[in-house]
Amino acid sequence: TGLVVAMDGPSGSGKSSVSRGVARALGLRYLDTGAMYRAMTWWMLRQGVDLADPGAIAARCGEPLIVSGTDPDSPAIHVDEVDVAGPIREADVTGAVSVVAAVPEVRARLVARQREIIGAGGIVVEGRDIGTVVCPGAAVKIYLTASAEARALRRSAELAGSTVRAQQEAMARRDTIDSTRKADPLSMADGAVELDTTAMSLDEVIAEVLRLVAE
Ligand code: ADP
Ligand code: CDP
Repeated sequence: TGLVVAMDGPSGSGKSSVSRGVARALGLRYLDTGAMYRAMTWWMLRQGVDLADPGAIAARCGEPLIVSGTDPDSPAIHVDEVDVAGPIREADVTGAVSVVAAVPEVRARLVARQREIIGAGGIVVEGRDIGTVVCPGAAVKIYLTASAEARALRRSAELAGSTVRAQQEAMARRDTIDSTRKADPLSMADGAVELDTTAMSLDEVIAEVLRLVAE
């Protein structure tokens, strides 16, 4: 099918888990665009690019070859043939990714890659700008939210050794950069359905998205 489901929202709102569950249930592919921004950031850090200099980021962002898998059961991501699925979740990348993602040249490059992967559709795509920029024609657009407390609790349950408070501060910093940057900030797309998942279980959210797809 040519179905595209666009899943946007702030960090910890449940995009990855919900998108993978929906893709699995419908036999669709799955694309984690955040992993691509993380992979670009991992490469910049490894190259020693000065992240305080947007011009330096822009000048180098065409160099790494970023390849994303689309299997919801085993999301894969490689940079120049190196498997970076683990390293892109480390704190150094998480702390720098919003700065790299704010550079328009980075976005132009990764959005073009994302559109190639989306192709004729049959995919659930998660990120910050999928319904607004990457795929404004998506048949179903979801905007996932949850309270800042719930999102921080979920993330600190995943990451051993991080307190909820530290997590909430780090997420708030990233969400502020993501929603106030000039290039394609996080915002609700026209025609998107907002789902507040604060008091919902993962299975309930997946069921609700499947219901919206079936409508
Ligand atoms: P995002 O991709 O938006 O950052 P994730 O899908 O990584 O969010 O979710 C973060 C964590 O929260 C995961 O461990 C996930 O299992 C959990 N989670 C997601 N949605 C819910 C929900 N509705 N209720 C409880 N936990 C959830
Ligand atoms: O870790 P979390 O699920 O919160 O975020 P992610 O989906 O892995 O995305 C990491 C970062 O990439 C975000 O904080 C944004 O800065 C950036 N991003 C973006 O700008 N546009 C997207 N479509 C996806 C992610």
